[in-house]
Amino acid sequence: MPEQDAMTNLLDRRILFVGGKGGVGKTTTAAALGVLAAERGKRCLVVSTDPAHSLGDAFDREIGDRITGITAGVWGLEIDPDAQAARHLDAVTEQMKQLAAPEMHAELERQMQMARMSPGAVEAALLEEVCRVMLEGMEDYDLVIFDTAPTGHTLRLLTLPEAMAAWTDGLLAHNRKSKELGEVLKHLTPRGSRADVPTPFDDPDEDPFEGMDRRTRRIAETLLNRRRLFHRARRRITDAETTGFVFVLTPERLPILETHRAMHALRQFDIPLCGAFVNRVLPADADGEFLRRRREQEARYLDEIPQALHGLPTRQVPMLPEDIQGLDSLRAVAAHLDRLGI
Ligand SMILES: Nc1ncnc2c1ncn2[C@@H]1O[C@H](COP(=O)(O)OP(=O)(O)O)[C@@H](O)[C@H]1O
Ligand SMILES: [Mg+2]
Repeated sequence: MPEQDAMTNLLDRRILFVGGKGGVGKTTTAAALGVLAAERGKRCLVVSTDPAHSLGDAFDREIGDRITGITAGVWGLEIDPDAQAARHLDAVTEQMKQLAAPEMHAELERQMQMARMSPGAVEAALLEEVCRVMLEGMEDYDLVIFDTAPTGHTLRLLTLPEAMAAWTDGLLAHNRKSKELGEVLKHLTPRGSRADVPTPFDDPDEDPFEGMDRRTRRIAETLLNRRRLFHRARRRITDAETTGFVFVLTPERLPILETHRAMHALRQFDIPLCGAFVNRVLPADADGEFLRRRREQEARYLDEIPQALHGLPTRQVPMLPEDIQGLDSLRAVAAHLDRLGI
């Protein structure tokens, strides 16, 4: 039995993020962790934020952007970042139209079309959806596992809730056509504020919208709710009792380097790191000259990992003879994970 460390009782957390370089086995690991959690009697939601949507491939069934039951105790959801961004901007456009004079509507549409193509739009919408699914998921499930897109994107996503709050506010501010809304925004985004600092309106006994007309009030409420969502999500993500981030890497040069880098970035933002699964380790009984040489190289990388990851707890997952697709092979991976003391 491996020693007690931050990987022990991994599945007793409420939220797990599975991250790592493309192709190392994130989706497989996330899905197998979900299967294992369900075998232990938990209700588990596995969420993919990767536009490549491989979660359905891993489970070998259609999932899509509605929560879909997969097997007893396991549900899946594939968030489509582009569709999410489109929906998000449609909602914002609607809000803006309510505020702007009718002759401004065409211009508004044009601005929103531009926003749709801006690189930040997809990330902002995805982040908002991740935050929402995470907080709502905690009410309905024991465990929510995020199978994240390759490390770079995930990092930006997890480390920027406050910047994203500013982005959505900024989008509205940029388009604002009314003095009142300008006033509202000024109050909602105090200079230099961060989402994890309470907004001036967090006192439940005070009506922050006093004196505003109904339409301005509705928009102010939406903005404030969004800030609160980011604020609450950030608090959850950085709470080590609730949340854990696990890396998946293979014993190869680039995945080790990338994990090393990602680790530092996530530490800086107080994201609780639990450990790493070193995946596709050659099984001890694999033989032949070719495999012997592979194993020699692998042994060197396996030696390097503890230092590269500054002693972050690790668990090795063997390479299986075939690709992992469908519940049966995921159960086989889950059985391996089960023996790792997580
Ligand atoms: N331990 C393993 N043994 C054998 N094949 C694996 C293992 N882990 C993952 N794979 C296979 O490797 C490929 C990539 O895995 P995947 O989970 O999709 O990676 P990622 O989500 O990180 O891009 C898939 O074909 C998967 O079936
Ligand atoms: Mg994947």
